[in-house]
Amino acid sequence: MIANDNLHWWQRGVVYQIYPRSFKDTTGNGVGDLQGVIEKLDYLHDLGIDALWLSPFYPSPMADFGYDVADYCDVDPLFGDLATFDRLVAEAHKRRLKIIIDWVPNHTSDQHPWFIESRSSRDNPKRDWYFWRDPAPGGGPPNNWGSFFGGPAWTYDERTGQYYLHQFCKEQPELNWRNPAVKAAMFDTLRFWMKRGVDGFRMDVIGLIIKDKDLRDNPPNPAAPPNLPANDLFSRLLQVYNMDQDDVHSVIREIRGVLDEYDDRCGIGELWGPLDRWVKYYGDASAGSAGEELHLPFNFRLMDGMTWNAQQMRAVVDSLEAALPDFAWPNYVLGNHDRTRLATRFGGEAQARVAAMLLLTLRGTPTIYYGEEIGMEDVPIPPDKIQDPQGINLGPERTRDVCRTPMQWDAGPNAGFSPAGVETWLPIAADYVTRNVAALSADPHSILTLYKRLLRLRRATPALYGGSYRPLDVEPDNVYVYLRKADAQRYLIALNFATEPRTLAIPGETGGRILLSTHLDREEAVSLDALSLRANEGVIIAL
Ligand code: NOJ
Repeated sequence: MIANDNLHWWQRGVVYQIYPRSFKDTTGNGVGDLQGVIEKLDYLHDLGIDALWLSPFYPSPMADFGYDVADYCDVDPLFGDLATFDRLVAEAHKRRLKIIIDWVPNHTSDQHPWFIESRSSRDNPKRDWYFWRDPAPGGGPPNNWGSFFGGPAWTYDERTGQYYLHQFCKEQPELNWRNPAVKAAMFDTLRFWMKRGVDGFRMDVIGLIIKDKDLRDNPPNPAAPPNLPANDLFSRLLQVYNMDQDDVHSVIREIRGVLDEYDDRCGIGELWGPLDRWVKYYGDASAGSAGEELHLPFNFRLMDGMTWNAQQMRAVVDSLEAALPDFAWPNYVLGNHDRTRLATRFGGEAQARVAAMLLLTLRGTPTIYYGEEIGMEDVPIPPDKIQDPQGINLGPERTRDVCRTPMQWDAGPNAGFSPAGVETWLPIAADYVTRNVAALSADPHSILTLYKRLLRLRRATPALYGGSYRPLDVEPDNVYVYLRKADAQRYLIALNFATEPRTLAIPGETGGRILLSTHLDREEAVSLDALSLRANEGVIIAL
């Protein structure tokens, strides 16, 4: 593929995810807020990212920390108000930063006025906006589906004698997207934010919005681990009838149609599942809908189930490249608010540096999770401080709080996240005195400096932001080498995943110049018939 200057911002740019509760607290209540994001825009601009994705800031009882929305068109007072949001958009745009917001279409809060009406009586006009069903013939829930957060996916409501469906907390009842009125109301929420200048949406569990018409039982999962917590009904079943239904695609095309009413907006979907199913969310050429669905179905393949191994990483990238039709633009994610931090997952900072070089030099849009740029690790949470419903219901080892702790800005009290003396909503990492933005900004060899240099190089280099990708076969194991090319510009990326040095011969190449090493200590001409890489070193070489 030839790099070209007609790439859209969401192809060329780098996305940075902010979990607003944990970014910067300006009110002194221990929880981050939108004003905090505004105050850190200069930092983000200087870091070199292009777009912010904000996890939910809507009015919410916070049963699932904002993924239970009580009003799609407002801001929770905890985070600010609409005027603050408008200022955030204006200030971001001044700095050429795009704003992507989370959109949670699958479920509302049980405190959303729609659900309050719906549950009030069986003949309420909004009854069919949600899933209400009679108990099974012998009593109990209408089908065998489990909640992601433990227990059945159904809760019985005494008042009307029926169950309602929720595949997350019981406070997150699911909307019935087969009802045209639900669709129309939700489409209007997209328009509401696009009119306010929002550039794109990250769509929460978008593959769940359409369920099997008959809500059939899911079959048992033969590969379910034997030691699951007793209440983990979800993992005991194959997710056959509750997600990725064929008829979800026509709804996503309608959603895309709403985005296309406005100029150059972007739809990103949270999706998992096997490659052949996942790739259809770009639109399906064989169904005549090439490129008519999401711009970017989030790609978690380098994150989920991966160990730190070069061959494994390459295999995943290569299979993705092979599966993508021409109209589909790749993207990569290594961390988010639901997963163990990448530095913890892959071993530590040495691995996190190589991972950063990988993420920012592959073909496709990278998403960085806040704190990755300073190498933040999972923070152990004492059991009595666990906040996440998943951790509370399924056991401390499943809590997502570990990756949601406050951003570490400086070595002062509360890491500069909250004022001194305030108890932050989650504990701050013990290493914040040395691992913080202020300290690492001043260090020319820090991981933060590496991120900034990678981001600058990527932005300035058509081969990196838009060029083709070709993996190269090299002899020693646990090394991943690929070529990025745009017109005459050719860059070689060589990543040593091993904890020992490696020397490699690059086929067909004699020499080049190292522009950047993950160790930030060499920029030099090198011969490519015997390229030496230190343990956990990655390099970018101009050919
Ligand atoms: C996916 C989100 O990323 C996660 O944080 C949330 O708990 C569920 N969807 C439910 O909205």
